[in-house]
Amino acid sequence: TGHFTYDPGFTSTGSCESALTFIDGDEGILLHRGYSIEDLAENSDFLDVAYLLLYGDLPNKDQKKKFDRDVTYHTMVHEQLSNFYRGFRRDAHPMAVLCGVIGALSAFYHDSTDIHDERQRMVASFRLIAKMPTIAAMAYKYSVGQPFNYPRNDLTYAENFLHMMFAVPAEPYKMSPTIARAMDRILILHADHEQNASTSTVRLSGSSGANPFACIAAGIASLWGPAHGGANEAVLNMLQEIGHKDNINEYIKKAKDKDDPFRLMGFGHRVYKNYDPRAKVMQKSCHEVLAELDLDDPLLELAMALEKIALEDDYFVEKKLFPNVDFYSGIVLKALGFPTSMFTVLFAVARTVGWVAQWKEMIEDPSQKIGRPRQLYTGPAQRAYVPLGDR
Ligand code: CMC
Repeated sequence: TGHFTYDPGFTSTGSCESALTFIDGDEGILLHRGYSIEDLAENSDFLDVAYLLLYGDLPNKDQKKKFDRDVTYHTMVHEQLSNFYRGFRRDAHPMAVLCGVIGALSAFYHDSTDIHDERQRMVASFRLIAKMPTIAAMAYKYSVGQPFNYPRNDLTYAENFLHMMFAVPAEPYKMSPTIARAMDRILILHADHEQNASTSTVRLSGSSGANPFACIAAGIASLWGPAHGGANEAVLNMLQEIGHKDNINEYIKKAKDKDDPFRLMGFGHRVYKNYDPRAKVMQKSCHEVLAELDLDDPLLELAMALEKIALEDDYFVEKKLFPNVDFYSGIVLKALGFPTSMFTVLFAVARTVGWVAQWKEMIEDPSQKIGRPRQLYTGPAQRAYVPLGDR
């Protein structure tokens, strides 16, 4: 078999060195460049965190001003790009549209696809971070048959995204500071999470020298799956299906049944064997948003009851299955007005920062090689060819 370790799912393979994100899964600790996710979610804004991930430290006032300008300079997309949307069905899943349109960016921005040119790498990074919300909001607008909104650079990253999503020509979007803050927090909580499936996909794609736009499209494809970023959408669908507290036990039973493929969505994590620290912040944010908006979402009550029952259940205790970031995010997003199909798109908008920062770190690492895992061959041994007439 040669000299390698068989490790399906890479549960014990470190694929790279990285200075971006630290996770202690047993303790439930998540740090970006040494700063705790709780501190960042409380005190920073999303572009602060983006700067931190890209450059290694929080920006000072001048650096922040310049970075905001560097990003906002690229928030518009090539006018021609809007034609792509018209080729999609209106009822297409926005993740499908996102995947296609981001993949097409390398057909537009030829001047930032040379990965060996440091300036081009930086411009591609700004472009991806800046255009992602524009492209995501356009996917939504197309699906509801409303005109696209141009970005507004006088707004923060989170506010601008809300504007592009929800404003219509007849009426501007009423910006509430609480909602903008909650939006910003969701973006921060999803910005990076070391070598998860989509980030590893971006790195593996990039390791061959592919351009960053193509690599991020690959990351989006991986994120879409329900075991990964698709879980936030799946949680809300699950809560709606459970419908009432009285039905929780039936679903817990299904989740524990080995012959039933059903899993409790928003529960469990490859690395966290403790409460996901992001889920704690999200739960708090969820209460704040619903209180501020004076909304009484029965799904929140249902989610809390479900969490309580699962946390006390022997199966979940023994397997160390705790709520993850996706468990509460859907309820917040729903309160902010996002349709379920946009939940994973939003995750992709935020994670673009992590993808880009990880991709750049990899390209700039002198020990970087093409990613090329090995395999255990299980097919037949060598045999003689059988001509068609003899088969
Ligand atoms: N419900 C019921 N049982 C579960 C669940 C769950 N949500 N998660 C894991 N298990 C069981 C699983 O059946 C297995 O049991 P056994 O050892 O008896 O075969 C054991 O726990 C370990 O699970 P695993 O699938 O081997 O663990 P993994 O590290 O490969 O999977 C996971 C991690 C997140 C894919 C998984 O926990 C899962 O499918 N959770 C539900 C989907 C979800 O919420 N995903 C979001 C992840 S966090 C953010 C993100 O990436 O988007």
